[in-house]
Amino acid sequence: MARRALITGITGQDGSYLAEHLLAQGYEVWGLARGQANPRVSRMRKLLADVQVVRGDLLDQGSLISAVERVQPDEVYNLGAISFVPMSWEQAELTAEVTGMGVLRMLEAIRVCSGVSRGSNTRSGQMRFYQASSSEMFGQVAETPQTERTGFHPRSPYGVAKAYGHFLTQNYRESYGMYAVSGILFNHESPRRGAEFVTRKVTLGVARIKLGLASELRLGNLEARRDWGFAGDYVRAMHLMLQAAAPEDYVIGTGRMKSVRELVEAAFTAAGLDWEQYVIRDQTLHRPAEVDLLCADPKKARVQLGWEPTVSFDDLVAMMVESDIRLLSNGGDPDQDSSWP
Ligand code: NAP
Ligand code: GDD
Repeated sequence: MARRALITGITGQDGSYLAEHLLAQGYEVWGLARGQANPRVSRMRKLLADVQVVRGDLLDQGSLISAVERVQPDEVYNLGAISFVPMSWEQAELTAEVTGMGVLRMLEAIRVCSGVSRGSNTRSGQMRFYQASSSEMFGQVAETPQTERTGFHPRSPYGVAKAYGHFLTQNYRESYGMYAVSGILFNHESPRRGAEFVTRKVTLGVARIKLGLASELRLGNLEARRDWGFAGDYVRAMHLMLQAAAPEDYVIGTGRMKSVRELVEAAFTAAGLDWEQYVIRDQTLHRPAEVDLLCADPKKARVQLGWEPTVSFDDLVAMMVESDIRLLSNGGDPDQDSSWP
């Protein structure tokens, strides 16, 4: 019988790549979708016709229990979150509820449905749980590069909520013997990345300028540095983590850092443009507390999981610029759900 996976965050960037990867491995894939008439669900159904949808919301404990009871998954991937860091200052409580408490609700749904009682410490149930932890937890970094042992100093309500989810996942593993792991993933991007994140904002901006649809691009802090990889590579790591003999946490990244300025240069160059003629620095886009740099040491994942990234920074940027030029040339609107490439 096919193995069964339940993915929260199915309408997001990672949900789509993970679903494709698991379907290709022969899994029966279920996606948890929220809302009464969520247009992102119809967009997802077009791209991923073989994914089955179960209704639920990370804010609603009962709905998660019902979803787990109905699907009876072998593996649960918790990717659902408020994931845009600036939004976490504007809606800190909602971020705590979805990105933080949502992890507790998902773990409780699995615990209850597996029949694990408080106080028992046996290796429980068969369901394996993956939590989408984040390099944002490192925040003001204690050391560079960051490993699984580096301490956390989150700089945003989002980072704090992710740290809660991370420790809780560890705690359920230790308290109940659950197979529950966290992937501490560094920034990963793709043509399906949300338009609010800096890589996609830049590649869409470049495409608009190239096609004469815009004349400038406003950006915040150009000096921040990130370890950027390709989302398609990172979802392979999520799956590998749940196939390991023992439940452990892993750092996933490329080990290479680039600044936002270098990202901008690479994207404009890929379209044959000079970025300095178009980019405007906008102080209002700076964050209350910035994460200045992030750089992964993915050695543990390489050695124990055999995981390697396959797409370089330059190839990733070129892929996104080409995709956005094609999208806009064909009359697509990235803000319209039907135009998801
Ligand atoms: P994304 O594109 O922003 O997707 C977020 C998903 O969360 C969407 O499917 C959204 O569904 C869902 N969601 C939001 N609120 C929800 C709720 N109340 N109940 C259920 N689902 C809800 O994020 P992503 O880039 O794919 O990232 C996936 C996960 O990895 C996130 O947890 C993110 O924080 C984490 N992460 C991402 C990166 C990265 O660089 N991409 C790095 C480290 C960690 P709707 O369509 O209903 O809004
Ligand atoms: N979004 C955005 N827009 N960021 C900008 C801009 C701008 O106009 N100008 C400069 N930046 C800088 C931000 O200040 C930040 O330092 C960097 O670009 C990256 O910003 P984002 O692309 O928004 O990503 P992030 O690093 O804050 O968060 C992403 O990666 C995390 C993993 O480290 C998200 O995917 C999180 O969900 C994820 O956990």
